[in-house]
Amino acid sequence: MAGIESALTFGRILSSCALLPRERTEGRQTKTSGKRYPSRGGLRLKPKDSFEVRPLRPADFENGFFETLSALSDVGGLTPAEAKKVLSALVEPSRVFVASTGSGKVIGTTTLLVERKFIHRGGRVGHIEDVAVMKGYQGRGVGHSLVEAAVRHAKELGCYKCILDCKPEVVGFYEGLGFSRHEVGMRLDLKKPARR
Ligand SMILES: CC(C)(COP(=O)(O)OP(=O)(O)OC[C@H]1O[C@@H](n2cnc3c(N)ncnc32)[C@H](O)[C@@H]1OP(=O)(O)O)[C@@H](O)C(=O)NCCC(=O)NCCS
Repeated sequence: MAGIESALTFGRILSSCALLPRERTEGRQTKTSGKRYPSRGGLRLKPKDSFEVRPLRPADFENGFFETLSALSDVGGLTPAEAKKVLSALVEPSRVFVASTGSGKVIGTTTLLVERKFIHRGGRVGHIEDVAVMKGYQGRGVGHSLVEAAVRHAKELGCYKCILDCKPEVVGFYEGLGFSRHEVGMRLDLKKPARR
């Protein structure tokens, strides 16, 4: 993707803590106790199920990361070793975030890709990609916390906007986070989609 500063800092715990009012913070980690969303039919997370939002670590590839992403799309069967190569191809200050439970299981993820522009006086744009929450954990505030973490990171980097493409059925989810419809998404397939 042209213009994307593609990178990632491994293993650094998210330092920003003010994601949602329901969160409490401990040191540099962000812990969230969950929230009930009657409109989504979700369950309140028990204290033991509280989660933290932090950068992706290589160990996550064997602890729920791919199962989480499968809520979004076919994950294509990358091995953990192949996934580590993908991770190391990302360049600072872009970042993959995960939400993980107290036991370390990944239950949500999103990626912030940071683009440097030639317009806007060399300003930065945050591209929010691949937002996914594991089935069984949806409707409990995990997706909300992940996108807020990505937006906070973008703000800290001085991005002047965050943009994303999404399916019509999740427009309401992003509107609840302050996003609004803008222009249209366009796509040109360069390879035949793999058969599922
Ligand atoms: C869409 C998705 C990321 C939302 O994550 P989530 O953890 O289930 O959502 P949250 O519990 O954080 O919801 C936050 C708010 O958004 C609302 N919301 C959640 N999904 C919504 C949807 N599809 N449409 C409208 N509102 C939605 C919730 O009701 C909640 O509202 P409230 O704060 O007023 O109670 C998740 O359901 C998912 O992974 N879906 C499958 C993959 C996908 O479609 N990803 C988006 C790619 S663009």
